[in-house]
Amino acid sequence: MLLTYLLLLAFVEPISHSVNTRRNNVCRHFRDYYYPDDNENCYYDPDTTLSIPQLIEKYAGKVELHNVTTEDGYIITMFRIPNGNRKGVILLHHSIATHSHIYLWQGNNSLALTLWRDGFDVWLANQRGTIFSDKHVNMTKYDFAYWDFSVHEMGLYDVTSELELIQSKTNGSQVIFFGHSLGSAIGLIYSALKPIQASKYLKTMILLATPAYFEHGTSLVFLFIRLSSYIKAFMDLIHLGSPLILLPFIIPVSRVFLRLFPFILFVVNVFVWQCCGYTPSETDPTFFNYDGAIYADNFSWKTLAHFGQLANARNRFQMYDYGEKENLKIYGQKIPPLYPLQNITVPTLLVSSYNDTLVSLKDCENLYQQLSPKAKVHGHWKISGLNHLDYHLGLHRKEIFVHELLEFLNNLK
Ligand SMILES: *[C@@H]1O[C@H](CO)[C@@H](O)[C@H](O)[C@H]1NC(C)=O
Ligand SMILES: *[C@@H]1O[C@H](CO)[C@@H](O)[C@H](O)[C@H]1NC(C)=O
Ligand SMILES: *[C@@H]1O[C@H](CO)[C@@H](O)[C@H](O)[C@H]1NC(C)=O
Ligand SMILES: *[C@@H]1O[C@H](CO)[C@@H](O)[C@H](O)[C@H]1NC(C)=O
Ligand SMILES: *[C@@H]1O[C@H](CO)[C@@H](O)[C@H](O)[C@H]1NC(C)=O
Ligand SMILES: *[C@@H]1O[C@H](CO)[C@@H](O)[C@H](O)[C@H]1NC(C)=O
Ligand SMILES: *[C@@H]1O[C@H](CO)[C@@H](O)[C@H](O)[C@H]1NC(C)=O
Repeated sequence: MLLTYLLLLAFVEPISHSVNTRRNNVCRHFRDYYYPDDNENCYYDPDTTLSIPQLIEKYAGKVELHNVTTEDGYIITMFRIPNGNRKGVILLHHSIATHSHIYLWQGNNSLALTLWRDGFDVWLANQRGTIFSDKHVNMTKYDFAYWDFSVHEMGLYDVTSELELIQSKTNGSQVIFFGHSLGSAIGLIYSALKPIQASKYLKTMILLATPAYFEHGTSLVFLFIRLSSYIKAFMDLIHLGSPLILLPFIIPVSRVFLRLFPFILFVVNVFVWQCCGYTPSETDPTFFNYDGAIYADNFSWKTLAHFGQLANARNRFQMYDYGEKENLKIYGQKIPPLYPLQNITVPTLLVSSYNDTLVSLKDCENLYQQLSPKAKVHGHWKISGLNHLDYHLGLHRKEIFVHELLEFLNNLK
């Protein structure tokens, strides 16, 4: 296996060098990617090669890195764009298969930097297993056991450690928790399982496209997600806990093919429409550039399997299903318990979009109905025009969502 891998790398590297000599790497239309050089619609964007701390440093002039160890031994790295704590402290939690990258991908126009310029002290979590948070006190990421976690553990352990760290660095400020997709599910689980702590540490939760119920999603990705238990069973057999060894191969190879055959960029875009909602007026080809179009970070197969179980359960937001026998041992009952959503006391704002086919607005409405009056303080924003990813990448995300978000944050008592 290793040998095959090395051989393939040896084959790919030279091609990679030959096509990497193109000067421009970002274009405004898909067709321009065929001839990026000497094309007024294309340019070279140096940000595509910067790491997240470098990007923050470039635009904010400062960045802090903080490590924190969770109760179960995972070492999480958080980034901070410090801001003297003028308006408030906000913690951003990202979705699956990425890291805090999603909040900074847009460079100077990114949500993280927009919030910072507006006066917020911005903290970015990198979930366990991602490239910046891949350490553990007793294990390495190459241990199968390292990857034995799902959304559950991230909600139960990571958020507590992160908030304790933020408290210690900000003189006990209450934090605004902001999540997208998996990040929102993490916030829900945390505040449902630790309601007293959550209401002490959190001022409010803003949860975008929260994947709890899956009755109305029409995305083609469900065909795949519903099978994720089988994928996990297979990966268990060959002792792989994550796409860890696949990604460093798949990503560079895909990028070479992108440069050789730029129509793949459009194919990736079609995949995003299938996955997340058909919103052609929001598509911004500059994000589908040679470096950005194929992007993923490590996550555990168990996290994907947990979402697969939730998708199959349709309207039960429940803990991980280990099978009847194990469930009896772990939970004292045959079917996994539901997360006690009615116990959440943190004032919460749900945001969802009519055009999101992965986490549908109707399912978010059902979720909203499950919350207690104490949590329902800020309501449920039903927006139109953005798909699941357009919150970050949509051409009109500022007009549709970001401006209103800033207004909301500025009026928050
Ligand atoms: C955080 O941990 C990483 C390794 O996991 C290490 O390289 C880095 O120096 C640590 N940073 C701080 C601020 O402790
Ligand atoms: C790490 O290993 C030590 C010694 O084996 C053990 O006592 C401890 O519980 C382990 N910690 C975690 C978080 O697994
Ligand atoms: C980033 O954007 C802000 C606000 O639009 C602007 O004032 C600043 O000059 C920009 N920074 C860079 C490095 O482009
Ligand atoms: C931290 O909080 C304490 C008590 O609320 C206050 O006395 C102190 O001045 C604060 N320190 C800073 C640096 O804001
Ligand atoms: C979003 O969905 C609505 C109704 O479902 C539709 O009318 C609208 O055109 C869609 N918006 C975009 C940007 O595709
Ligand atoms: C995933 O893990 C592998 C192995 O540690 C690492 O090489 C890779 O950089 C990680 N992240 C991504 C995005 O591939
Ligand atoms: C939810 O809150 C009720 C009342 O405070 C409590 O009895 C119950 O144990 C909580 N449920 C869970 C699962 O924490």
